[in-house]
Amino acid sequence: MIALGCDHGGFNLMVAIKKYLDEKGIEYTDFGTDSAESVDYPVYAYKVAKAVTGGGCDIGILCCGTGIGIAMAANKVKGARAAVVNNEFGAEMTRRHNHANILCMGGRVITEEEAVKFTDIFLNTPEEGGRHDKRIAMITAIEEGIFEA
Ligand code: RB5
Repeated sequence: MIALGCDHGGFNLMVAIKKYLDEKGIEYTDFGTDSAESVDYPVYAYKVAKAVTGGGCDIGILCCGTGIGIAMAANKVKGARAAVVNNEFGAEMTRRHNHANILCMGGRVITEEEAVKFTDIFLNTPEEGGRHDKRIAMITAIEEGIFEA
């Protein structure tokens, strides 16, 4: 199950992403917003990050104007690894190396076609283990306040 959320700045991308998911038969929970009317992106970041880190969803997708603010807010939730993606290479590598569990994109930065392409790559790229597992464990240790460097 995929958790979806956006503000007014990312609403256009989310419409396109939902169309893609519907066509592929991929299930999602939509946490809003549901129009281009101005709203506060942390609300949607929080709902999606909580759904992904313990609410029954495996992956989240968040869109705002830049993808940045909504990622910053999502990453305040323990266990969230939200990544801003602006190109195909980033969409792939943040899954392989960073084990990103939330894809963030900006409606004022990329096109709807790009958002669908990056979503497709993100959803179809596995996490790589080995040295990357160790680094993700370090990120988690920082989050838990037990990291020593
Ligand atoms: C809203 O105007 C805008 O600030 C928001 O969508 C996002 O870009 C924040 O990072």
